[in-house]
Amino acid sequence: MLMTVQDFETAARMRIDPVHADFIAGGAGDEITVRANEEAFRRLRLLPRVLRGSAERALDISVLGSRARTPVLLSPTAFHKLVDEEGEAATARAAAAAGAIMIVSMASTVAVEDIAAAAREAGEHGDPPPLWFQLYIQPDLGFTEALVRRATDAGCAALVVTVDSPVRGAHERDLRNGFLDLPPGLRCEHMVDPREGGRVHPIAMSPVISWEHIDWLRGTTSLPILLKGALHPEDARLAVRHGVDGLLLSNHGGRQLDTVPATVELLPEIAAAVAGRIPIVLDGGVRRGTDVVKALALGACAVGIGRPVMWALAAGGEKGVRRLLELFREELDHALALCGASGVRGLPPDLVRAPAWGPA
Ligand code: FNR
Repeated sequence: MLMTVQDFETAARMRIDPVHADFIAGGAGDEITVRANEEAFRRLRLLPRVLRGSAERALDISVLGSRARTPVLLSPTAFHKLVDEEGEAATARAAAAAGAIMIVSMASTVAVEDIAAAAREAGEHGDPPPLWFQLYIQPDLGFTEALVRRATDAGCAALVVTVDSPVRGAHERDLRNGFLDLPPGLRCEHMVDPREGGRVHPIAMSPVISWEHIDWLRGTTSLPILLKGALHPEDARLAVRHGVDGLLLSNHGGRQLDTVPATVELLPEIAAAVAGRIPIVLDGGVRRGTDVVKALALGACAVGIGRPVMWALAAGGEKGVRRLLELFREELDHALALCGASGVRGLPPDLVRAPAWGPA
């Protein structure tokens, strides 16, 4: 029975190629940050209040104009067709049914137009929450602008610009396994260049991308822009100054620079730096309803999940992802009730006892 995120991982591993399981689970270098993300949540303690609960907990959120029925959103992950025939279309149907925001990866194996159509088809309770689109700014700004327009026309309601990837992370498991490219028949649908008769470009991760590019993007689109992967408080302040609308506090699930701190460990500092001026979404190591409560109490307005979605999709396709999102909802609601909270908004930081951070 699939009762925990860990169960989904176990079930997924029984169904997929071990090389692909390594691609999902793995990270950069010694995977110190991969482990740190989960460990940091485990080391935080909840300190509940009593005699002040409510019969029902409100789990809905509104962030940058997007409304969702849960604060758990789907962080962008590449290559869903590696683990499920329908790929991102199946994921999008599950997210829409759960009322969860899905961030479409630029490296998706289904085109954003088809993902949006799948989400619309599955929205059960009125309109499903909108999709957001994750972008690696390409040095070819004409191509980047065309892609932004494509995502906008497809109905995406925000852009999530990943800025922690000036070069590709060193994924040693993939190198050892010789997993360097998508298998034949699969491709990154957003990298097909119509100007060149359908040639598929590799995604460029470029160290020359700078704040000037963020300014350029700011002038190109009226969609809200979130930065994904800024970790230093000074960069969080710069983001506000450059007109960025939100932060996705993320270390790429430990897949870029190894040995950076766990995201939840950085959250109080980042929250202090932005001082409520822009919303913060956090991802990395969120595996339990209690993790969601901790992140929200420390200043995030929502959390993202990456690997759990891939495991659930691999384990059970659309149904698997639906069940995963239900599980997070049940666990979150239960944890909130036990904390004496009436919902996900306005959780106080004193709900969390932090250890003095140091080596685990
Ligand atoms: C990712 N992540 C990612 N991030 C991004 O900005 N663009 C992308 O295309 C991808 N692709 C991707 C693939 C896979 C298989 C994984 C596991 C991750 C990072 C992702 O958005 C997120 O930051 C982390 O996955 C969050 O950590 P957890 O929930 O996996 O611990």
